[in-house]
Amino acid sequence: MTVAVVVAAGDGTRLGAGMPKALVPLAGRTLLAWALDGVLAADVDRVVVAAPPGRVDDVERGVAGLPAVVVAGGADRQASVLAALGHVADDEVVLVHDAARPLTPPSVFDLVRAEVVRTGDGVIPALTPADTIKRLAGDAVVETVRRALLAAVQTPQGFPAGALRRALESADARHTDDAAAFAAAGHRVRVVEGSPDAFKITTRWDLRRAEQLLAPPAA
Ligand code: CTP
Ligand code: MG
Repeated sequence: MTVAVVVAAGDGTRLGAGMPKALVPLAGRTLLAWALDGVLAADVDRVVVAAPPGRVDDVERGVAGLPAVVVAGGADRQASVLAALGHVADDEVVLVHDAARPLTPPSVFDLVRAEVVRTGDGVIPALTPADTIKRLAGDAVVETVRRALLAAVQTPQGFPAGALRRALESADARHTDDAAAFAAAGHRVRVVEGSPDAFKITTRWDLRRAEQLLAPPAA
């Protein structure tokens, strides 16, 4: 079985909407509701949502009728993923996704999932950065890094669930994504093509961009 873990427990400090980011409205529905649309249109059997600890009841009402369970998230993203993995069996494939990437196409979930099934490795979607990237020492440019060697990483990130859980439980550092903890535990991580629509909503600018993408074309 394939289970999606949707982490939605963050405060959204940088967005500054005065409420948890996953519950912020985008074109009349929450970011979480949009994210769940993409997840459930993919080849996924069920979903575990890590909700803001004070909003578990609200989120449960929001997922009524969907193949989803809701758990209280943790103090950081890694803790939220681990809380959700409590509802995932070791022999399942897990796709860990940010609620903050509400417009991620179902095809990305299916691509990641298929590559986990094919290889047994960790799989992450990524895009080659569009900007030229420099390595710095203070304010001095040291070198231009070849873009082909770089990947801007998105979610969903897919793993054999048992191996991910053990990697996160034994992680001695806080990692910024699940693949970093998985790799630190000695596992291989592969990359597949991400999507521009899988961008993360971090600031007001990102939210405006999402609103514009969803707006009907002007007559
Ligand atoms: N997340 C989570 N639990 C946490 C922190 C983050 O489930 N304790 C989730 C967020 O809800 C989000 C994803 O991890 O879907 C990516 O995190 P980020 O974009 O940093 O969201 P926030 O932490 O909410 O935002 P900020 O860092 O601006 O406060
Ligand atoms: Mg954060």
